[in-house]
Amino acid sequence: MRAILEDLPAWFGQPEATEAYVTAADTLPNYFAVTSTGEQVGALLVEQHFPETAEIHLMAVKAAWHRRGVGNALLTKLESDLLAHGTRMLTVKTLGQAHPDDGYRRTRLFYEAHGFLRLEEFTDLWPGTPCLFMAKHLP
Ligand SMILES: CC(C)(COP(=O)(O)OP(=O)(O)OC[C@H]1O[C@@H](n2cnc3c(N)ncnc32)[C@H](O)[C@@H]1OP(=O)(O)O)[C@@H](O)C(=O)NCCC(=O)NCCS
Repeated sequence: MRAILEDLPAWFGQPEATEAYVTAADTLPNYFAVTSTGEQVGALLVEQHFPETAEIHLMAVKAAWHRRGVGNALLTKLESDLLAHGTRMLTVKTLGQAHPDDGYRRTRLFYEAHGFLRLEEFTDLWPGTPCLFMAKHLP
């Protein structure tokens, strides 16, 4: 987990946040994408706030593996497992478009390509940082 986050300083550049994610990986439901040589290249952590809804707590794929289907594979497996347990809605919070960061612009494109809709952009949830709340209905 730590190696994946440290490979993405443009997204996960704050050491305290990285530590919190590493700790969270020990307790939250998690999915890892692992190569045939045993290298972890992608991770997905989930928070199940209520039986009917779940939130992506963290999603990250090593930079060299972007656009090679790893994120898609992680999300597809998660959605399949959630549906099997009766969960009907998947949400995620990410950096909003009021911030000019190009990396997160691509992150939003990933979620939009997977059917997530923009619900609201909060200006006061993360101090000084716009937070876009997105959701996807699991059919
Ligand atoms: C967002 C992220 C998890 C996506 O993982 P990925 O393995 O690169 O995504 P995939 O290869 O499975 O992409 C699936 C589809 O999403 C869309 N997509 C993904 N990245 C995109 C981009 N940069 N621009 C436009 N569309 C994109 C495309 O439709 C893509 O299909 P295609 O490649 O056949 O066109 C990954 O880029 C990442 O780790 N980013 C940095 C960390 C991050 O943003 N985490 C989320 C924080 S909320």
